[in-house]
Amino acid sequence: MKGRIPRSFIEDLLDRVDIIDVISPRVALKKSGANYMACCPFHNEKTPSFSVNQNKQFYHCFGCGVSGDAIRFLTEYERLDFVDAVEQLANQAGLEVPRETLSPIEAKREERKRTLYDLMQDAARLYYKALRKESRVQNYVVKRGLTPATARSYGLGYAPAQWDFILNELDSMGYEQTQMIEAGLIIENEESNRRYDRFRNRLMFPIRDSRGRFIGFGGRVLDDSKPKYLNSPETPIFHKGKELYGLHEIKQSKNSIDRLLVVEGYMDVVALRQFEVDFAVATLGTAATIDHIRLAFKHTSELVFCFDGDEAGRRAAKRALANALEAMEDGRSVKFLFLAEGEDPDSLVQKIGSEAFLRMVKHAVPLEEQLFASASEDLDLNSLDARATMAKRLAPLIATIPDGIFKELIHEKLAEVTGLNRQTIDRVYRESPSDEPAQATDHDDELASYIADAYGAQNVDQEFTHTRLSDNQLATLRAIEKLTGCLIRQPSLIGELPPLTNLPESNHSKTLTNLIELLSQKPELSSAKLYGLWLAKFDREAADQLFNHESLVAAIPDSGLQSEALGLVKFIVRSIDRSKKKQRINELKQKSLSELSSEERNE
Ligand code: UTP
Ligand code: MN
Repeated sequence: MKGRIPRSFIEDLLDRVDIIDVISPRVALKKSGANYMACCPFHNEKTPSFSVNQNKQFYHCFGCGVSGDAIRFLTEYERLDFVDAVEQLANQAGLEVPRETLSPIEAKREERKRTLYDLMQDAARLYYKALRKESRVQNYVVKRGLTPATARSYGLGYAPAQWDFILNELDSMGYEQTQMIEAGLIIENEESNRRYDRFRNRLMFPIRDSRGRFIGFGGRVLDDSKPKYLNSPETPIFHKGKELYGLHEIKQSKNSIDRLLVVEGYMDVVALRQFEVDFAVATLGTAATIDHIRLAFKHTSELVFCFDGDEAGRRAAKRALANALEAMEDGRSVKFLFLAEGEDPDSLVQKIGSEAFLRMVKHAVPLEEQLFASASEDLDLNSLDARATMAKRLAPLIATIPDGIFKELIHEKLAEVTGLNRQTIDRVYRESPSDEPAQATDHDDELASYIADAYGAQNVDQEFTHTRLSDNQLATLRAIEKLTGCLIRQPSLIGELPPLTNLPESNHSKTLTNLIELLSQKPELSSAKLYGLWLAKFDREAADQLFNHESLVAAIPDSGLQSEALGLVKFIVRSIDRSKKKQRINELKQKSLSELSSEERNE
């Protein structure tokens, strides 16, 4: 295996090439002030929101949120992998790409990452072959209304009713059992030391990431036993709160995606495809997270969420709505489709056919309507009081929408519906505690996946965890993400910020701490260089994630960035302080009054 490309070379390379020279042969750029603008090559649009900043050597699309440096552009536009993009650029600049020698540990790590994907792909193939041998399971597939061709296009398979099917098969292909455990296909019983297949006697849905790599499985029982679905656990390559089932298959069949329909189940996606509704993706047993929404908007500008018509569906819709608001940049649209109680997309499309189903999708409720409807569910808007309540409920939610025309329209609508004038609403706005997160966030699934993301998967139980973070903790994590975004967009801000210590333990905190450490040593770094450095220091995923934070502050104008960052630091410091106090109070509460010293009692 070739060694990695030294980071200093990547920095040099980015210094030598001009991002304008890289982009302009591929996209028609127009100079506009300090930037160059164009219609974004990564999503469909009529008015240009793709901007390239020559000073920063960085591109960013305000429509779909993509951003990066010259290398990143090539990887996305030409679909090259990172190394090929570097080589192509180096070639143009007349440079030879040097290689570091990998330490044995590094080589091993690289190797393992590659083979986890390989292993999952081989497993998918084995399950797929097993299905072809089992007519009982094929009959089940047919009974569910699927043709063999549809089943094939999603790579459906079968995990035989054996304790050691995949174990033996992969073993004979030379995979290590530790890898199989790491990939989540084999379970090890710590006490008995016994190792056995996680998936047995189940219809298997292979899950691929948006680049088509096999990363996990969902397995359905063939009868009424429980649990109905078993999913791969979180692994180094599989993160449930971040993947959309079926996205890769859609990307393969279309050049551009007009809209995505977000449903709950694997079976819904496959059944819809059977009925030629070929734009459905599924969240994997969790509510739609911000990551899901960001991923979806990378590929389309319209999302339609589909929910059951029952209470749980309405709750899930509220969560999705709250999460979608911050992604509502101009040019994007989000809609909600509510089904009748007891119905899901699979059963419905089988019943009414695709034409009627598509009509329903077309008439889904736009986000703005749903926003107002859900805020006034229990209110009689004839009363003045109720209208004030509604304004109070909506103000903090609306605040999370990125600045733009859409936000203005919502403001206007709020004024219209409540009959309150804009000044009054602005006052309500200021009075509502902007310190607190935009909405009550006591939603277990969303939290579980948010926590999985923020804290790293290892701390989160696999299937149906109900970990809870307080609103305060959650808001702190969000603030940390945003502050990271501010620093990435304007690294020189580091000089203006007071020190931050005692951040709560989380991945986002680690990222921020690393970033602050780096920038304190090199405050003159540009955004583009930061990307390169992060790539060199960590990996592609970490670098991409870092730059995802930037999109959180995309709506803030350059001039407002410093005060935003200062405000965030203040907020973070205050909430760390607050949770310390809370902890102390809880400690004191453990004791009875007589056990407390007089000092403690005062406290
Ligand atoms: P549903 O219970 O709605 O199943 O779960 P479904 O999609 O209608 O499946 P069929 O029609 O009975 O085959 C929806 C999704 O929730 C997750 C899965 O991702 C499933 O696709 N789920 C459900 C689990 O992860 N585990 C379960 O036990 C049940
Ligand atoms: Mn179903």
